Amino acid sequence: MELSLIGAPTDIGAGVAGCRLGPGALRVAGIGRGLRGLGCDVVDTGDIDGPPNPMTPPVDGYRHLPEVIAWNVALRDAVAAELASGRLPVVLGGDHSLAIGSISAVAAHCRAVGKKLLIIWVDAHADINTSAMTPTGNIHGMPVACLLGHGPDELTGLSDQRPAITHDQIHQVGLRSVDAGEKRFLAELGISVYDMRYLDEAGMRRAMRRVLASVDADTHLHLSLDLDFVDPAVAPGVGTPVVGGPTYREAQLCMEMIADTGRLGSLDLVEVNPALDVRNTTAELAVDLVESLFGKSTLLRVTDLANPP
Ligand code: ARG
Ligand code: MN
Ligand code: MN
Ligand code: MN
Repeated sequence: MELSLIGAPTDIGAGVAGCRLGPGALRVAGIGRGLRGLGCDVVDTGDIDGPPNPMTPPVDGYRHLPEVIAWNVALRDAVAAELASGRLPVVLGGDHSLAIGSISAVAAHCRAVGKKLLIIWVDAHADINTSAMTPTGNIHGMPVACLLGHGPDELTGLSDQRPAITHDQIHQVGLRSVDAGEKRFLAELGISVYDMRYLDEAGMRRAMRRVLASVDADTHLHLSLDLDFVDPAVAPGVGTPVVGGPTYREAQLCMEMIADTGRLGSLDLVEVNPALDVRNTTAELAVDLVESLFGKSTLLRVTDLANPP
């Protein structure tokens, strides 16, 4: 597997500063080393550039809109370049507003090469606010809405077509903090959601079986992994923690089941906030999860048996 790490050191869409330090923390936790250890060819393309965080209040329902646009244009271009050269982009965030640029590039790439895109959005939050309903103005709470065509033109128009994706191309897993407007919007749009209540009752395995049921040889899977998905007891270094999330093992199972499909095509690792973390625990957790995502397992897998080293 040929992977490219793309650092996006910004907290421009978040309400709390610090996830601009995420790419460095993920590198220190050994993301490159871990993936190389699994036999991946890993190129670290370094960090993309963008404007500093002015830490100003929202204007017309958006905080830092011009800066969020600039970061997402840069990331869209960086992700598109790696996909075009046949490499799997791994975005090291940064806050979750970056998924707008990342997934806009992935969606255009899938249309160009005739692949079916399926997005797995693993998060405590739905991130489907609009400027009219956001309680904060923070654009990291809006990427799903923007990708579905609801948002400012500069963010809804980053792919080859608008909207970048349709509601049936995304599954959300792990939700436990959804704002009032978001609840209505999710229902209205008919988005597939496996919230914590579902995971409690049916389990991670049942949820992921359903999420992955339509995956076939022509599918490109994109995982957008917000580290606040995992319970804050295990992942303390995030800006918007919510109690009651999946355990370490439930999160690992989610990754392992995605790995088993062999169809992962792109990845966002977002919302790691080293300024709030405890001895880099959350970046280290992210590296553990990513290793599982790229095939690390306790025992030999069926595919290993078919292809001995
Ligand atoms: N729903 C809240 C908001 O709109 C929180 C969003 C948190 N998003 C995130 N990517 N951590 O502000
Ligand atoms: Mn979140
Ligand atoms: Mn439908
Ligand atoms: Mn998120």
